Amino acid sequence: MFVAEVTEQTGRFSVKSGGFVRSQKSINNLLAKGVSKVLVDLDKSEHEKEPEVAPVSTAVPVEKVRPKTSFKDEIGKAKKLYNQAKTLQRQALKNMKAGRPIDTGGMKEVADGFIDSIFRNQDALACMTRMRQKDDYLMEHSINVSIIMTIFAKHLQIDEKTIHDLATGALLHDLGKINIPDEVLHKPGRLTDDEMVIMRSHVTLGYDILRESSDLSPTILEVVRDHHERLDGSGYPNGKNENELSQFAKMISICDTYDAITASRVYQNARTPIMAFKILRKESGTGFDANLVAEFINCMGVHPVGTLIQTKSNKLGIVIKSNFVNPLCPVVKVFYSLANKGYIPSKTIDLGAPGVEDEIAQSVKPEDYGIDINRIMTEILD
Ligand SMILES: [Fe+2]
Repeated sequence: MFVAEVTEQTGRFSVKSGGFVRSQKSINNLLAKGVSKVLVDLDKSEHEKEPEVAPVSTAVPVEKVRPKTSFKDEIGKAKKLYNQAKTLQRQALKNMKAGRPIDTGGMKEVADGFIDSIFRNQDALACMTRMRQKDDYLMEHSINVSIIMTIFAKHLQIDEKTIHDLATGALLHDLGKINIPDEVLHKPGRLTDDEMVIMRSHVTLGYDILRESSDLSPTILEVVRDHHERLDGSGYPNGKNENELSQFAKMISICDTYDAITASRVYQNARTPIMAFKILRKESGTGFDANLVAEFINCMGVHPVGTLIQTKSNKLGIVIKSNFVNPLCPVVKVFYSLANKGYIPSKTIDLGAPGVEDEIAQSVKPEDYGIDINRIMTEILD
């Protein structure tokens, strides 16, 4: 058969000038490269005699080249990207509320930017997820879940096209919340049964509008629709069980829960990542997929990037790079002496480096020490 072009694929390969596919081996090669559909030119295909045109080995990879960057080089780009995402989220929420169309193309561009940055150096955007404004929860939550989901999907070696869908779906997953009355959305205490019904309707409110968009793939919509479902059927809106949920649905439920726990809200201070891991572990096998929770903790690191920690030498610092070989010894930037109760010139310490004696005593909450984490991160990460 003469293949004129590749029409469906998960990788990023192109056929320069078309060519013959003559053997099962060539087909297997294409499949291995993620090619799932090709356009065959029957006029040019020769079923009996040997082809004269070069075989499909003209297919060449055009995978995006993303040179790795240092944290210092990436953090500026990450901040810019994060702010662009916030502007777009703000606009999307406004449009959703007014019943106007959502700029899904813009969301996809943001997802593109996130993926590029994360493949260059994931620590920069990971750090950005730890800088929060209490009043911007709705906006920041979706952005953070998208970043965390992208990092998680990259860790699981999911193909890039799917990662793009997952990142986009995460950006859109909670848009329906803008149509929940503020007194329910921001209620500090426990919701009544009626209020709970209203709150839970955010999933369907968002999904029903987004499914009208012709340019959102089934995976994107699935992420939106299933982000509150749980393995044991206790989730909503459809009470699906483990077998009805895809890996992507199971992933978003973990990322969404993790970010919600570690966020500070108007009525609740943020809990540490370690506390979030404990909760996820506790609900492993019932609410969340146990293997995926274990992978998620591996991927985030015991002390995720951006976490405030106290060292044994009595200093406060921020984790700026995970250590996948020895997760208890990441790279930290210390900036405060608890002994002297005062700020010190910030200093980067690789706790895993030979000869370094210091180690992490515990992860701490910024408010316990009157630390304005956003200000500190802005200052020490510049
Ligand atoms: Fe939600």
